[in-house]
Amino acid sequence: MSSEPAGTEAGTIPTWYIDPDAEDAMADGHAPIWRHLIGLIPERDLSAKAVLDYGCNQGGFLRHLHAVRPFRKALGIDIAEQSIARANALKGNLPVQYQPGSRLAGWDQEFDLAFSHEVIYLVPAIEEHAADIWQALKPGGVYYSVTGCHTDNPLWPKWRKLVAERTNTVVQDRSINDYAKAFAAAGFAVSARKLEFDGFIPYVPDGWMPDFADALDYYTSTKTVFRLVKT
Ligand SMILES: C[S@@+](CC[C@H](N)C(=O)[O-])C[C@H]1O[C@@H](n2cnc3c(N)ncnc32)[C@H](O)[C@@H]1O
Repeated sequence: MSSEPAGTEAGTIPTWYIDPDAEDAMADGHAPIWRHLIGLIPERDLSAKAVLDYGCNQGGFLRHLHAVRPFRKALGIDIAEQSIARANALKGNLPVQYQPGSRLAGWDQEFDLAFSHEVIYLVPAIEEHAADIWQALKPGGVYYSVTGCHTDNPLWPKWRKLVAERTNTVVQDRSINDYAKAFAAAGFAVSARKLEFDGFIPYVPDGWMPDFADALDYYTSTKTVFRLVKT
């Protein structure tokens, strides 16, 4: 019998980036993308809604979401224990709970909306993940899952090497079609769109985007937003 509290599990990591400081920089870089994503979703009034952020890292997405579209309550879950501790330290009075782990046992039919931003390419068993999110959503619930880290990305061979070198996780090689197939098999009505980020993209020569032209294509064309409805 495990002595871990309910909802936690073995197999966590300390932080996602091996260098914990890189997680602050990641959050700064992702913030404009989170705001754009929030602007894309047709669900406007979240005041009565429960929201899940899967792979929340330091919790920044839910803080942004609550500032723009206040929700009733939310859960952020992530396999990185220290990142979750940071999320808890930063949450203030928000109606948010942050939990270490990757499985959603105990959260059956709890959420109206779920999000994951750049997480599904790290999940080892996508079928299990799809089934977990299905179970955690209420009937009619919607999962927005965003990734540009797929094998259709021309930068993928370079990026998969960088993720292996710089993070405590293992990347998975899946195409956009592989994701669509897996979520459809779990029962979701699957649709998707390009992220089509419409802001100015900063020039950040940090190894991920060696050619600035690639950055422009990545945020408009490569990065994909799945809309997965539990019918
Ligand atoms: C690229 S980061 C994205 C973080 C955050 N969603 C954002 O937009 O900044 C990927 C996150 O997914 C988490 N992660 C990776 N594999 C996971 C898993 N199997 N279960 C839960 N979280 C996972 C990592 O710890 C990391 O925080």
